[in-house]
Amino acid sequence: TQARIGVTGLAVMGANLARNLARHGHVVAVHNRSQYRTKTLVEEFGHEGEFVPCETPQELVAALERPRRILIMVKAGVPTDAVIEEFAPLLEPGDMLVDGGNAHFLDTRRREAALRERGIHFVGAGVSGGEEGALLGPSIMPGGSAESYAALGPLLEDIAAKVDGVPCCTHIGPDGAGHFVKMVHNGIEYADMQLIAEAYDLLRQGLGMSPAELADVFAEWNRGELSSYLIEITAEVLRQVDAPTGKPFVDVVADRAEQKGTGRWTVQIALDLGVPVSGIAEAVFARATSGAVELRQAARGLPGPTPHTTGPAREAQAGTDFVEDVRQALYASKIVAYAQGFDQIRAGSAEYGWNVDPGALATIWRGGCIIRAVFLDRIREAYEAARTPATLLVAPYFTDALAVAQDAWRRVVARAVELGIPAPGFSSALAYYDALRAERLPAALIQGQRDFFGAHTYRRIDREGVFHVFWSGDRMEIEG
Ligand code: 6PG
Repeated sequence: TQARIGVTGLAVMGANLARNLARHGHVVAVHNRSQYRTKTLVEEFGHEGEFVPCETPQELVAALERPRRILIMVKAGVPTDAVIEEFAPLLEPGDMLVDGGNAHFLDTRRREAALRERGIHFVGAGVSGGEEGALLGPSIMPGGSAESYAALGPLLEDIAAKVDGVPCCTHIGPDGAGHFVKMVHNGIEYADMQLIAEAYDLLRQGLGMSPAELADVFAEWNRGELSSYLIEITAEVLRQVDAPTGKPFVDVVADRAEQKGTGRWTVQIALDLGVPVSGIAEAVFARATSGAVELRQAARGLPGPTPHTTGPAREAQAGTDFVEDVRQALYASKIVAYAQGFDQIRAGSAEYGWNVDPGALATIWRGGCIIRAVFLDRIREAYEAARTPATLLVAPYFTDALAVAQDAWRRVVARAVELGIPAPGFSSALAYYDALRAERLPAALIQGQRDFFGAHTYRRIDREGVFHVFWSGDRMEIEG
């Protein structure tokens, strides 16, 4: 029998996707640069389905039915180009190379264009869900041609996670669209993780709650509107006790957050597109701040707030339920972060002509991926409504949620400031909310300053045209 699909690159993600395909009854040809991985996979998991072990790219290509489908699961960057160069000469027009790594969408666009010249479909597919997702059902975001999706879609939908029977996989759009939305997915993931971390920090430092108590709080939150994979695993991480020391696990881990780059890319591209993704940016910068060892060392002695404003005693006085306030602040900030991420997707889609359907995207993010949440169903509903909202903040469900949460949100941000606990995610999200709803912004003053020092001109609220004040002379306005 000819294999339906080939997988090259059998590290954990590749091996698990190959197993997932085999478990669904598809014959999978498997290949890895060093053969021990191929051998191990077939020895350990051969009973799960039908694998065709291949020692060389030539063997893999020969094992496949046509048009050939080859899934590349190697490290993003130079290794991907090397694998493409190995396989492309062996392929025929109509064959498909699928890159399931976290590639930069601009690389994907370049590769797609080059391979299209050679008649080969190149499909940049975002795959989310980590190791377990790859095996049990990830969320898959394939870009590339509609023609390639016709041949690949059924296979990918088969192995993707399902929510209410709907597969978490859909054709996102041409060329780099799939990797673009995966990038923004990761940016949103960063923002969501930062907000959860701030909620933890505020309750831990602000109320003196223990990690075990906080595990209960997050487990409880996971039963409500915040219900999501990230909240669920937060409870588990907080409940973990370090065996050698007996201390809470979270207290023995070095407090420097690392990153592999997708969050940073999201912000870089957002800057180019001019989309304010402040929540994602704050999350990336917060990781950078945590890792700035020398700066933190040097600044450790700087004074914080005077003690009388802090501590649980004030909590009693204030007469509010701070835990519930933090939950509301987290939810409101999360709405802002997702709204900004979806804005970036709309902007990217317009810039590159992808025609990405935000409702379909929210649908495939409901399951399988790291940001999977009940919440995504609300986003899906917002985008499937008769009138597409200009921002998720004005979709009725979210407007109501923000109206309910906003007093608590303000109290939490004010309290964070009083206590000297950094909450850049919460506070920047609130600032964004207040900026968007403002009647007037001080940007008018900035325009005045620009015109003053650089004759950069300004527009007026009451007349068309561009204007300039002769600042260094009679200070009369001239129309330019
Ligand atoms: C996913 C994840 C995954 C990525 C992690 C880690 O969707 O399954 O996004 O692709 O490995 O997000 O990213 P950082 O190392 O940058 O935190």
